[in-house]
Amino acid sequence: MNKNFVKSIYCILAIIVFQIYVITISFADILNKNTGVYLLQKGNDADHKISNDEDEDEDDDDDDDDDDDEDEDEDEDEDEDENEESHNAGRNCLTSGCHTGGREHTFSIGGTIYDDAEGTNARKGAKIKITDANGQKVRLRSDQLGNFYSEKDLTAPFTISVSYLGRTVSMPVTAETGGCNADGCHTTQAEGRVFISTNDLDLAGMVTIDNTGGGSTEISYEGDVKSILDAKCISCHKEGGSKSDIPLTTYEEVTDPGLVTPGDEDSLLLRKLDKNSSEGTMWPKLNSSSEYDTIKDWIVAYNAREYSSGVTDVAGEPVAGAKVRLSKNGRIKYQTKTDEGGEFILEKVKAGSYSLKVYKKGYDAYNQSYQMNQTDVTPLEITLTEK
Ligand code: HEC
Repeated sequence: MNKNFVKSIYCILAIIVFQIYVITISFADILNKNTGVYLLQKGNDADHKISNDEDEDEDDDDDDDDDDDEDEDEDEDEDEDENEESHNAGRNCLTSGCHTGGREHTFSIGGTIYDDAEGTNARKGAKIKITDANGQKVRLRSDQLGNFYSEKDLTAPFTISVSYLGRTVSMPVTAETGGCNADGCHTTQAEGRVFISTNDLDLAGMVTIDNTGGGSTEISYEGDVKSILDAKCISCHKEGGSKSDIPLTTYEEVTDPGLVTPGDEDSLLLRKLDKNSSEGTMWPKLNSSSEYDTIKDWIVAYNAREYSSGVTDVAGEPVAGAKVRLSKNGRIKYQTKTDEGGEFILEKVKAGSYSLKVYKKGYDAYNQSYQMNQTDVTPLEITLTEK
């Protein structure tokens, strides 16, 4: 009984000793790592895990190593003994009482990078390139909380771009202040957070023949009016249509003498579409002044002609088999060809600035710069001119 008791005490002691040993080892490991980080940061700014690196390249696995902020070292001694992280992610760090002077370090610029506009997750390791009003350049990297800041003496307005894993987004305009998270700026209520996402978006578009300047500015039924009536009117105005028995589906029907008198503004069709007239009961269906003007010009100026002279309805004809290329710094990044309908999709395009080229034999090449955003990618409408 007594022996057994002693045995179990020994046993428990042995387990405890072993555990202490294990803990010490892993703790030493952590300590070593921390010391490494601490030393790297010390030269820069001990109380924020951030550094200014001057490397230009886009690779993202290099660490915070090039610290060349000697000019900032004087005021640090007081809090050097802590390895504290930056804080208050998403708040404006340049308000009074914070980093505008006084006890805290003074920041000339600071903000937080997220992975989406709602600020769902912090984006660590994003590179921020800033050029101030005097051409002074600063490179920063976002920390664990997505925070970045600079204590350099910088002058607004700033030109800013952020990159991450080969994606780059640039602020379309210069920033008037260095407080990126200030009210009315990058808050979820205003512009949305500064973010760089890892979702690549498709860029769709359509390539058609440009023949403005040809004979096609003439307004004709086939070229201009039919498409309007088809879209807005024939749901009712056709054989078996839901409400009215006056069909408007063909040229003959539309130019029925009871409806349209060529050259005459007083045609019934126009009166029914005139929003200022009590007879204009069909205006709400049309609800477009430019379409009204087209129909009016068609009747009054072009005598309700069926076709434009010369070319018949080639406006906007699709260009199939045109090559579409997005390149960056002279290198082709994405390319495709338009299909039979002139449409194309460049899939999963990274955010950034590109030059876009569309070309096909027999047409003048089309060039433009293209900024791929991270949201709201509007399809492109490109026209090619025949040589
Ligand atoms: C929702 C069904 C509907 C749509 C869509 C519609 N209409 Fe009508 N339309 C009617 C009805 C019902 C009448 C008869 C009552 C009236 O004159 O207001 C009518 C009457 C007319 C008349 C007068 C015919 C006559 O002999 O008095 C004209 C002209 C006309 N529509 C043109 C148009 C045009 C042009 C459009 C397209 C911009 C259009 N309508 C869209 C239902 C429609």
